[in-house]
Amino acid sequence: MSYLIISASLNPNSRSCLLAKTALSNLKALGHSADWIDLVDEDIPLCDGDSVYEDERVVRIRERITKADGILLAVPVYNFYASAAAKNLLEVAGSAWKEKVVGFLCAAGGKASYMGPVSLANSLMLDFRCWIVPRFVYAIGSDFEGEAIVNSGISDRILKLVTEWVRLVEALNKGENED
Ligand SMILES: Cc1cc2nc3c(=O)[nH]c(=O)nc-3n(C[C@H](O)[C@H](O)[C@H](O)COP(=O)(O)O)c2cc1C
Repeated sequence: MSYLIISASLNPNSRSCLLAKTALSNLKALGHSADWIDLVDEDIPLCDGDSVYEDERVVRIRERITKADGILLAVPVYNFYASAAAKNLLEVAGSAWKEKVVGFLCAAGGKASYMGPVSLANSLMLDFRCWIVPRFVYAIGSDFEGEAIVNSGISDRILKLVTEWVRLVEALNKGENED
Protein backbone atom coordinates (compact mmCIF):
# COMPACT_ATOMS: atom_id res chain seq x y z
CA MET A 1 0.00 0.00 0.00
CA SER A 2 1.13 3.54 -0.64
CA TYR A 3 0.60 6.01 2.20
CA LEU A 4 1.00 9.77 2.06
CA ILE A 5 0.87 12.26 4.94
CA ILE A 6 0.39 15.94 4.07
CA SER A 7 0.99 18.80 6.48
CA ALA A 8 -1.08 21.59 4.92
CA SER A 9 -0.17 24.46 7.25
CA LEU A 10 2.10 27.22 5.93
CA ASN A 11 3.12 28.18 9.48
CA PRO A 12 6.72 27.07 10.19
CA ASN A 13 5.68 26.53 13.84
CA SER A 14 2.56 24.62 12.89
CA ARG A 15 0.69 22.55 15.46
CA SER A 16 -1.16 20.50 12.84
CA CYS A 17 2.30 19.59 11.52
CA LEU A 18 3.07 18.15 14.98
CA LEU A 19 -0.10 16.04 14.69
CA ALA A 20 1.05 14.87 11.24
CA LYS A 21 4.55 14.01 12.51
CA THR A 22 3.02 11.99 15.36
CA ALA A 23 0.82 10.15 12.86
CA LEU A 24 3.91 9.37 10.77
CA SER A 25 5.70 7.94 13.84
CA ASN A 26 2.65 5.81 14.63
CA LEU A 27 2.47 4.56 11.06
CA LYS A 28 6.16 3.58 11.14
CA ALA A 29 5.65 1.82 14.50
CA LEU A 30 2.92 -0.22 12.81
CA GLY A 31 5.49 -1.31 10.20
CA HIS A 32 4.55 0.95 7.27
CA SER A 33 6.36 3.73 5.44
CA ALA A 34 4.85 6.87 3.94
CA ASP A 35 5.59 9.68 1.57
CA TRP A 36 5.65 13.02 3.42
CA ILE A 37 4.65 16.44 2.08
CA ASP A 38 4.96 19.62 4.13
CA LEU A 39 3.40 22.54 2.24
CA VAL A 40 5.89 24.88 3.95
CA ASP A 41 8.52 23.38 1.61
CA GLU A 42 6.46 23.23 -1.59
CA ASP A 43 5.53 26.81 -2.54
CA ILE A 44 2.36 25.70 -4.34
CA PRO A 45 0.81 28.54 -6.38
CA LEU A 46 -2.82 29.56 -5.91
CA CYS A 47 -5.26 27.90 -8.26
CA ASP A 48 -6.20 30.10 -11.23
CA GLY A 49 -8.10 27.33 -13.01
CA ASP A 50 -5.78 27.81 -15.99
CA SER A 51 -1.96 27.83 -16.31
CA VAL A 52 -1.46 26.57 -12.74
CA TYR A 53 -2.06 23.00 -13.94
CA GLU A 54 1.16 23.14 -16.00
CA ASP A 55 3.25 24.56 -13.14
CA GLU A 56 5.99 22.02 -12.38
CA ARG A 57 5.45 22.26 -8.60
CA VAL A 58 1.79 21.39 -9.16
CA VAL A 59 2.59 18.60 -11.63
CA ARG A 60 5.01 17.09 -9.08
CA ILE A 61 2.62 17.22 -6.15
CA ARG A 62 -0.22 15.85 -8.30
CA GLU A 63 1.95 12.83 -9.17
CA ARG A 64 2.67 12.17 -5.50
CA ILE A 65 -1.02 12.41 -4.59
CA THR A 66 -1.96 10.14 -7.51
CA LYS A 67 0.47 7.44 -6.29
CA ALA A 68 -1.07 7.27 -2.81
CA ASP A 69 -3.76 4.78 -1.81
CA GLY A 70 -4.37 6.61 1.46
CA ILE A 71 -3.75 10.21 2.49
CA LEU A 72 -3.70 11.79 5.94
CA LEU A 73 -4.34 15.51 5.70
CA ALA A 74 -3.24 17.68 8.62
CA VAL A 75 -4.97 21.05 8.43
CA PRO A 76 -5.18 24.29 10.36
CA VAL A 77 -8.69 25.60 11.04
CA TYR A 78 -9.02 29.18 9.78
CA ASN A 79 -12.27 31.14 9.92
CA PHE A 80 -14.24 28.01 10.88
CA TYR A 81 -13.01 26.06 7.82
CA ALA A 82 -9.94 24.16 6.75
CA SER A 83 -7.32 26.74 5.71
CA ALA A 84 -7.20 28.14 2.18
CA ALA A 85 -3.84 26.41 1.57
CA ALA A 86 -5.46 23.03 2.27
CA LYS A 87 -8.39 23.81 -0.04
CA ASN A 88 -5.97 25.05 -2.72
CA LEU A 89 -4.37 21.61 -2.74
CA LEU A 90 -7.71 20.12 -3.79
CA GLU A 91 -8.17 22.83 -6.40
CA VAL A 92 -4.76 22.40 -8.05
CA ALA A 93 -4.51 18.60 -7.78
CA GLY A 94 -8.16 17.91 -8.69
CA SER A 95 -8.76 14.38 -9.88
CA ALA A 96 -5.40 13.20 -8.48
CA TRP A 97 -7.46 12.83 -5.27
CA LYS A 98 -9.79 10.31 -6.88
CA GLU A 99 -10.85 7.41 -4.62
CA LYS A 100 -8.26 7.93 -1.88
CA VAL A 101 -8.87 6.94 1.71
CA VAL A 102 -8.52 10.27 3.51
CA GLY A 103 -8.13 10.95 7.23
CA PHE A 104 -8.08 14.37 8.92
CA LEU A 105 -5.91 15.80 11.69
CA CYS A 106 -6.92 19.34 12.63
CA ALA A 107 -5.36 22.06 14.78
CA ALA A 108 -7.60 24.88 15.96
CA GLY A 109 -7.53 27.65 18.52
CA GLY A 110 -10.68 26.51 20.35
CA LYS A 111 -13.45 23.94 20.45
CA ALA A 112 -16.11 25.87 18.52
CA SER A 113 -14.78 25.07 15.03
CA TYR A 114 -14.84 21.28 15.33
CA MET A 115 -16.96 20.95 12.17
CA GLY A 116 -14.39 23.05 10.26
CA PRO A 117 -12.89 20.33 8.04
CA VAL A 118 -16.27 18.89 7.01
CA SER A 119 -16.71 21.06 3.89
CA LEU A 120 -13.35 19.82 2.61
CA ALA A 121 -14.37 16.24 3.41
CA ASN A 122 -17.64 16.78 1.50
CA SER A 123 -15.76 17.98 -1.56
CA LEU A 124 -13.41 14.99 -1.40
CA MET A 125 -16.38 12.61 -1.13
CA LEU A 126 -18.66 14.17 -3.71
CA ASP A 127 -16.11 15.45 -6.27
CA PHE A 128 -13.52 12.72 -6.01
CA ARG A 129 -15.30 9.71 -4.48
CA CYS A 130 -12.85 9.60 -1.59
CA TRP A 131 -13.46 7.40 1.44
CA ILE A 132 -13.31 9.63 4.50
CA VAL A 133 -12.18 7.98 7.74
CA PRO A 134 -15.05 8.72 10.15
CA ARG A 135 -12.68 9.54 12.98
CA PHE A 136 -11.12 13.01 12.99
CA VAL A 137 -8.38 14.27 15.28
CA TYR A 138 -9.23 17.78 16.46
CA ALA A 139 -6.70 19.45 18.77
CA ILE A 140 -6.87 22.91 20.34
CA GLY A 141 -4.27 25.30 21.73
CA SER A 142 -4.27 23.87 25.27
CA ASP A 143 -3.46 20.37 23.90
CA PHE A 144 0.06 21.62 23.07
CA GLU A 145 3.01 23.00 24.99
CA GLY A 146 5.74 24.23 22.68
CA GLU A 147 6.67 21.34 20.40
CA ALA A 148 4.83 18.74 22.48
CA ILE A 149 1.31 17.31 22.50
CA VAL A 150 0.46 17.33 26.22
CA ASN A 151 -3.07 15.87 26.06
CA SER A 152 -2.72 12.09 26.05
CA GLY A 153 -6.29 11.87 24.73
CA ILE A 154 -5.10 13.52 21.49
CA SER A 155 -2.15 11.13 21.22
CA ASP A 156 -4.58 8.21 21.66
CA ARG A 157 -6.88 9.59 18.97
CA ILE A 158 -3.99 9.97 16.52
CA LEU A 159 -3.06 6.30 17.00
CA LYS A 160 -6.70 5.25 16.57
CA LEU A 161 -7.02 7.34 13.40
CA VAL A 162 -3.82 5.88 11.92
CA THR A 163 -4.89 2.32 12.79
CA GLU A 164 -8.37 2.82 11.29
CA TRP A 165 -6.93 4.53 8.20
CA VAL A 166 -4.53 1.64 7.53
CA ARG A 167 -7.34 -0.87 8.04
CA LEU A 168 -9.54 0.94 5.49
CA VAL A 169 -6.72 1.44 2.96
CA GLU A 170 -5.86 -2.24 3.12
CA ALA A 171 -9.48 -3.41 2.95
CA LEU A 172 -10.41 -1.18 0.02
CA ASN A 173 -7.29 -1.93 -2.02
CA LYS A 174 -7.18 -5.67 -1.33
CA GLY A 175 -6.57 -7.52 -4.56
CA GLU A 176 -5.77 -4.37 -6.57
CA ASN A 177 -2.19 -4.10 -5.33
CA GLU A 178 -1.58 -7.86 -5.19
CA ASP A 179 0.19 -9.77 -7.96
C1 LIG B 1 -6.33 33.52 10.03
C2 LIG B 1 -6.63 32.63 11.18
C3 LIG B 1 -7.93 32.22 11.40
C4 LIG B 1 -8.23 31.35 12.46
N1 LIG B 1 -9.51 30.95 12.62
C5 LIG B 1 -9.80 30.07 13.61
C6 LIG B 1 -11.14 29.56 13.76
O1 LIG B 1 -12.06 29.91 13.03
N2 LIG B 1 -11.38 28.67 14.76
C7 LIG B 1 -10.38 28.25 15.60
O2 LIG B 1 -10.67 27.44 16.49
N3 LIG B 1 -9.12 28.70 15.47
C8 LIG B 1 -8.80 29.59 14.49
N4 LIG B 1 -7.51 30.02 14.33
C9 LIG B 1 -6.43 29.45 15.19
C10 LIG B 1 -5.72 28.32 14.45
O3 LIG B 1 -6.62 27.28 14.09
C11 LIG B 1 -4.58 27.75 15.30
O4 LIG B 1 -3.61 28.75 15.45
C12 LIG B 1 -3.98 26.48 14.74
O5 LIG B 1 -2.90 26.09 15.56
C13 LIG B 1 -3.50 26.68 13.30
O6 LIG B 1 -2.91 25.50 12.80
P1 LIG B 1 -1.34 25.42 12.54
O7 LIG B 1 -0.68 25.70 13.86
O8 LIG B 1 -1.12 24.02 12.09
O9 LIG B 1 -0.99 26.42 11.48
C14 LIG B 1 -7.19 30.90 13.31
C15 LIG B 1 -5.88 31.32 13.09
C16 LIG B 1 -5.60 32.18 12.05
C17 LIG B 1 -4.16 32.59 11.81
